[in-house]
Amino acid sequence: MTKSFKTFLKHTAKDFHNQSVNPPVVRASTIIFKSMKDIRKTQAKAKKNPTGGFYDYGRQGTSTTYILQKILTKLEESYHVFTTPTGFGAVFLAIFSVTRPGDEIIVADPVYSPTRLLTEKFLSEFNIKTIFYNPNDLKTLEKNITKKTKLIFVENPGSNTFDFQDLGKILSIAKKNKILTAIDNTWGTPYFLKPVKLGFDMAIVSATKYYSGHSDVMGGSLAVNKKVFSKVYNAERITGLRLGPDDAYLITRGLRTLDVRLDRHRENAKKVAAFLSKNKKFKLLYPFKKDSINFRMWKKYYSGASGLMGLKIKSKNINSVRKFVNSLKLFGYGYSWGGFESLALHQEFRETGKRKYMNLKKDEHLVRLHIGLEDPNDLIVDIKQALRHLK
Ligand SMILES: Cc1ncc(COP(=O)(O)O)c(C=O)c1O
Repeated sequence: MTKSFKTFLKHTAKDFHNQSVNPPVVRASTIIFKSMKDIRKTQAKAKKNPTGGFYDYGRQGTSTTYILQKILTKLEESYHVFTTPTGFGAVFLAIFSVTRPGDEIIVADPVYSPTRLLTEKFLSEFNIKTIFYNPNDLKTLEKNITKKTKLIFVENPGSNTFDFQDLGKILSIAKKNKILTAIDNTWGTPYFLKPVKLGFDMAIVSATKYYSGHSDVMGGSLAVNKKVFSKVYNAERITGLRLGPDDAYLITRGLRTLDVRLDRHRENAKKVAAFLSKNKKFKLLYPFKKDSINFRMWKKYYSGASGLMGLKIKSKNINSVRKFVNSLKLFGYGYSWGGFESLALHQEFRETGKRKYMNLKKDEHLVRLHIGLEDPNDLIVDIKQALRHLK
């Protein structure tokens, strides 16, 4: 019987041995064997089949992390998925696995600002050069490729500015020049976009967000194809960047309802976007208006949209922007997103990092909204009352 992924998520990983519907949390530093012979047998199996869940030490994982990896590998339709203690750990692991001193990497200008710091500042100390490309002009990507370019790092959509890129074109540029590719797919998750299936070598998701879904756990995942598997496997062993079993359990539990939550985030966000798109005081940064390039690029590659969106507000009166954001009653103020609740952030201190191609003017302000699982009509009423303050 063919099962859709939605059914698979509900039925997978039952534990008939313990008669619990969810698998147990197996915590272990020492993995105990009955004999030395058994240790050697397991080590031989691990060598032959490195994705088979054969461990001789807790840092490599336990059945709890293995189950999560298997579920994610199915969701991503990738060769394998590595799980890391944070989403940012997965960003680091992807880059660290395939770059060495003397290499160059080309990175999307609107990446998450810690990714910018890692590539531009930290990697330069190891003689790895970063060049940023304009997500809306891929000539800036192509013309910066040299013999030293090892990796193109994409984040889609761009952090806070929500630029949707032509992913197929990026992949064909990479293929033509034999360059590896990685994408941060936290916004869409493989529920809406499967990057490894599309042709990316590596795909990152911050499991902290929609995978766990309840704003109480941190984790990351890095899906890979067969080509880069060994490089990432070696780097993972060297760095010890692995998710612990308690967090793996919570993320597995969150995944049971990933489709249900993301479908609802999408519906709610669509309703709120329909309301926001009518307002002339700002530009809605979300794939909603059919005539925009962002909408076309989103439609070309994604099967749905999540709950994170932005507003680019034009106002000479910053206090009125502050008042608008601070008057929201149903939105919490805090970092991260992807949980059940609505959140708002005013990117007042240009938390976008120093971008090369953004050109945000002095009277333009970015506000980020995460549309949660509340009743969207309540959220709209709340935004409406707060908008009275925007001048
Ligand atoms: C797009 C994106 N990638 C990666 C991360 C890092 O994830 P984590 O906070 O789990 O380290 C974040 C966190 O906000 C993010 O927004």
